[in-house]
Amino acid sequence: MFDTMTMTKVTGALCGSLLVYLLGGWAAEALYTTSAEGHGEEGEVHQAYVIDTGAGGEAGPAEEGPDFATLYAAADAAAGEKVFAKCKACHKLDGSNGTGPHLDGVVDRAKASVGGFGYSDVLMGMSAEAWTPENLDAFLLSPKAYAPGTKMSFAGLPKAEDRANVIAYLATQK
Ligand code: HEC
Repeated sequence: MFDTMTMTKVTGALCGSLLVYLLGGWAAEALYTTSAEGHGEEGEVHQAYVIDTGAGGEAGPAEEGPDFATLYAAADAAAGEKVFAKCKACHKLDGSNGTGPHLDGVVDRAKASVGGFGYSDVLMGMSAEAWTPENLDAFLLSPKAYAPGTKMSFAGLPKAEDRANVIAYLATQK
C-alpha cells in the first residue's frame, strides 16, 4: 500500500522531470531555430560582418599607431637597409635595372621615370607625380592596391615601421 504510493510518487516525479526535460529541449530547439532563421536573413548577418571588418580592417591600422610623418621623422635607415633585403631580388641601387627599375634616388623621383625600364601602364599613367615618402608608404603597404595592374609582384610591407625605415634608407641612396 505504502510502497505503491511511493512508486506512484516516484513515477510521477520521473514523468514530471522527463516532461520538463522534453519541454526544455523543445524550447531550446525553438530558440536555436529562431536564431538560425535570423542568420538566414542576410541583412542582419552582413551588418555584423561590416561592423567587424570596419573596426579590424581599414580603420584599425591607422588608429593603432603613430601616423606616417611621426614614424618617418623617427625612422632608422640602418633598420631600413635590413628591410631592403626583401627588395634586393628585383631592385638594385647602382643605377642598373633588374626585374624592377633601379631605386637609387627614388625618393622624390618622378614615378616611372627610369629610362629603358618597361613600366606597367598603371605606373606610366602616374608619371606626372613623384615618389614622395608618403606615396612610397602607400605603395609599399600594398603595391597592388595603390597601382592596380602593377608589374611589381610583391605583397607589401604590412608593418608601418618597416615602410618608414626602408624609405629612410632609400633616401640615403642618391
Ligand atoms: C618580385 C620583384 C620585386 C620585389 C621583391 C620588389 N619590387 Fe619594386 N618593382 C618591381 C617591378 C617589376 C616594378 C615596376 C612596376 C610597374 O611597372 O608596375 C617595381 C617598381 C617599384 C617602384 C617604382 C619605381 C619607379 O621608378 O617608379 C618602387 C618605389 C619600388 N618598386 C620599391 C620597392 C621596394 C622598396 C621593395 C621592397 C620592400 C620592392 N620594390 C620589392 C619588382 C619588385
